[in-house]
Amino acid sequence: MSERTVITFGTFDVLHVGHVRLLARARALGSRLVVGVSSDQLNLQKKGRLPVFPQEERLEILASLGAVDEVFLEESLELKRAYVLNSGAAVLAMGDDWLGKFDELSDVCDVVYFERTPSISTTAIIEQILGDAD
Ligand code: CTP
Repeated sequence: MSERTVITFGTFDVLHVGHVRLLARARALGSRLVVGVSSDQLNLQKKGRLPVFPQEERLEILASLGAVDEVFLEESLELKRAYVLNSGAAVLAMGDDWLGKFDELSDVCDVVYFERTPSISTTAIIEQILGDAD
């Protein structure tokens, strides 16, 4: 059977079950999952804060997961199309917080949005830990 590559992007900081489920569902769409891990600088631009875990550690953590075949650093949102083409991906899979945002790439791959796992996010975990510390 020929290889079917799936690609996804994200910060994946303070890894949690929402991330793990998203990665498992993305991997199940094909035979190889490539993950573009947002750089520290890109996260600062997107979310207004640096990640808890620096990019080298987030890359290492993601690469160690069974669902993930390959990782690379995503340095710019404008390069999405180039990253997709470079990876040879047949599918781009994202959580539905990005619903519709990548439809313009549907000329080069299938674009799939998964429902987010409810009630969990890196931001909520950080806020909970900060709250507990008070
Ligand atoms: N994701 C998900 N379910 C969640 C949280 C995240 O499916 N509960 C998905 C996102 O939709 C995205 C990927 O996991 O496709 C990476 O998301 P990321 O932004 O790194 O995680 P968040 O927990 O949303 O981070 P933050 O709170 O910093 O925005």
